[in-house]
Amino acid sequence: MSVGYCAVQWNRAKIIYDAILLAGIVLYISMFLLIAARVDPPKDLAATIDLLIRAFGSCAFVMLTIILAIGPLARLDRRFLPLLYNRRHFGVLTFIVALLHVAFMLQWYAVQGNLPNLVTELTTWADYGKFIGFPFKVLGIAALIVLFLMAATSHDFWLAFLGPPIWKALHMALYVAYGLVVMHVALGIMQYEHTVLIPLMLIVGFTTVTILHLVAGWRERRADKGTVARDGWIAVGAPHAIPDKRARIVAAPGGERIAVFRDGSLIGALTNLCAHQNGPVGEGCIIDGFVTCPWHGFQYRLADGCAPPPFTEKLATYRVRVRDGIVEVNPNSLPAGTPATVRFEA
Ligand code: HEM
Ligand code: FES
Repeated sequence: MSVGYCAVQWNRAKIIYDAILLAGIVLYISMFLLIAARVDPPKDLAATIDLLIRAFGSCAFVMLTIILAIGPLARLDRRFLPLLYNRRHFGVLTFIVALLHVAFMLQWYAVQGNLPNLVTELTTWADYGKFIGFPFKVLGIAALIVLFLMAATSHDFWLAFLGPPIWKALHMALYVAYGLVVMHVALGIMQYEHTVLIPLMLIVGFTTVTILHLVAGWRERRADKGTVARDGWIAVGAPHAIPDKRARIVAAPGGERIAVFRDGSLIGALTNLCAHQNGPVGEGCIIDGFVTCPWHGFQYRLADGCAPPPFTEKLATYRVRVRDGIVEVNPNSLPAGTPATVRFEA
């Protein structure tokens, strides 16, 4: 919850999350180096540095794949929600791992006194028209710039400054970075290193991310479908079809998703977009009397969408009614913080 822009502070859960993440990175890099050095022992310093380039590059790719998979995984199965909690630190660490990949690459050129060759490679403009021989490092540089921008704007200050919709749109650039990295590897090392492991890494990563997004999107659309419009209102279902202290999510004609919550005999509707990072409020539940976002725990009153004092966030509310035993919601949002709940006879 936030007062000003200090939304999510350091806490024990975050420290454990980061510790596990760091341990995972150290384990991956050590295993990669151990196995690769055993299969093909490096003959000189340059070959040793090359191993480090590969270990950190592939680690950054795996991390990017996991970050992109967390969103749909958390939608498909609530047990993945803890992964979402500190996804921003995951992103910043990915940038640092990618930066180390580049640092070792620079060292690789430096130990051979070859740094000017790197500049020549990047400025041989004729090569940009080639498929085999394309300066693939440029694609890596572009991806790194995107990761840097995202790491630099990941703090809650930027979230408050830009507003959740713009901030979230900016962070969608991660998909662009992922595409650039796939091309960086496909046009780079995959062209001259004939091992099945590299295409396998790209295909498994890319396909996993794509399939998870398709399945999660399909599930959401299917969940929205049960809604029938009646004089402009949307039918949600019988009051008891909404689980107590939880919500059913319906889509307004414009596509905006509305979370219709039930708290005992009280029914209220809020926008499904959390004021923090646009998380899916309707996938949360009512804890201690407050609607609680599943991503980082921001809380709102069901009655009017306002966060409890001293917090100041407010969500748009929607009018609800119960007609012929069916809960209906008006898809036109009310100004954030407007009271709009109804009670039904049990
Ligand atoms: C987000 C940033 C980046 C990511 C995630 C990334 C990822 C990767 C991956 C996965 C590989 C293949 C590693 C393997 O063999 O398993 C690779 C190779 C390589 N990358 Fe990057 N890369 C990034 C940025 C860059 C940049 C900016 C440069 C240079 C300016 C660069 C230079 C290289 C080189 C030279 C190789 C080939 C290494 C070799 O031949 O052994 N990368 N990268
Ligand atoms: S609490 Fe962070 S998105 Fe809702």
